[in-house]
Amino acid sequence: MARKLWQKNYSIDSALESFTVSNDYILDQSLVLSDAFASLSQAMMLNKIGILSDDELKDIQKGLKEIRDLKLEGKFEIKREDEDVHTAIEGYLTEHYGECGKKIHTGRSRNDQVQTALRIYMREALLKTIDQILDASSSLITLAKNNVLTPMPGRTHMQIAMPSSVALWALSFAEEMLDTAKMASSFFEIIDQSPLGSAASYGVSLPLDREYTACLMGFSKVQNNVLYANNSRGRFEAMLLDILGYEALTISKLAQDLMIFTLPELGYFSLPKELTTGSSIMPQKKNPDGLELARSRTALILSLSERVKSIIKCLPSGYNRDFQDTKEPLIEGYNASRELIMITSHMIDGLIVNKENLLKGCTPELYATDNVMDKVLSGGNFRDSYLEVGLNLDKVNKTDPEKALLKRTSIGTSGNLNIEYAVDLENMLRCQNDLRMDKIRESYQALLALDELIV
Ligand code: ARG
Repeated sequence: MARKLWQKNYSIDSALESFTVSNDYILDQSLVLSDAFASLSQAMMLNKIGILSDDELKDIQKGLKEIRDLKLEGKFEIKREDEDVHTAIEGYLTEHYGECGKKIHTGRSRNDQVQTALRIYMREALLKTIDQILDASSSLITLAKNNVLTPMPGRTHMQIAMPSSVALWALSFAEEMLDTAKMASSFFEIIDQSPLGSAASYGVSLPLDREYTACLMGFSKVQNNVLYANNSRGRFEAMLLDILGYEALTISKLAQDLMIFTLPELGYFSLPKELTTGSSIMPQKKNPDGLELARSRTALILSLSERVKSIIKCLPSGYNRDFQDTKEPLIEGYNASRELIMITSHMIDGLIVNKENLLKGCTPELYATDNVMDKVLSGGNFRDSYLEVGLNLDKVNKTDPEKALLKRTSIGTSGNLNIEYAVDLENMLRCQNDLRMDKIRESYQALLALDELIV
């Protein structure tokens, strides 16, 4: 039986062990590199304050780089008896490098250790999500640019409403996603603080240099209050899942629209056959399973945030083991979101626009309100003009669809889409995001000699 970090003179009941560890040791495979990276910063700090000698630091650095290589080869093992990645890493260092392995945990607790590993995981997950959202917006902007004057019936209550365009429709989603990216980007400022050194929840009586470890790990600051550092577990996970949830909600609406607009009866758009699935009995079927599952994955992501909030809502201050169960929804939610946004961009890129069907959909009733506005422009009052058109709907003049689009000149409408707004926002957010990713990459490179991001 492996020694626990909390081992004394008895062994844990095996049923309780398997209940408490559950699948945490498997999930922790996602945190091996983050924990090795954080442990490197801890070791350098312990050396700086005189607790680790230069030779001991060198051994630990060597050992942690071996762990990095093992992980990259898929060979770093965490056993159920280890409980978690933290024990497995300390165990490796002690087994291979002796005494210094027993010093790495000086001044830290698994509570701030797991918080730090998760923070490293989450900040990267957030930046990668922003990147993906920007890619999806960019696909939508391209669709818009290619269809500035492609008419499309605008709908309210799902009924034919007013002239619109494919570009207006696509940009509505692009702008929504860009606002989500903006929200995600401001959340980065909250995620970007280091909990390391908060220990079990109350700090320790050693002169730990928290600013130094924060800086080594590429965080902009320390998370000041040590109790808050521990209490924020689950909160930040839920906030991240909420952001993923908002993006998923946009995607779900987009998917729903596309399911309607690709109906054979409407055929405004179609998906290339490679992006549809078939039926085992009906040979003609081309089903939009990707869109349908986008809807249900949205439900999954929303529920995972709820799960985390339910776990933390009644927890008293300080670490409680309940926190462990917030790890799975975080990782599951991020993985689901990553796939979801990726497949969405893929489907937008592949979307086929059927201009003829869109034109066919622009039936005379679509122009009823424009007829009212024409009368207003020739001096009529709105209410009487409305009544007149409403009582003579069979006589509504069908306007040229393109002209109807161009007649809308106020900002954000089909004749004045202001695409540059979305393009500029996307560029600004991308620039900021790239700089943040570079800073993280540099810290991985400096400490762990890693060129790639790790999540
Ligand atoms: N696997 C644990 C978690 O995720 C690590 C921290 C354990 N801390 C403790 N005091 N038992 O929360």
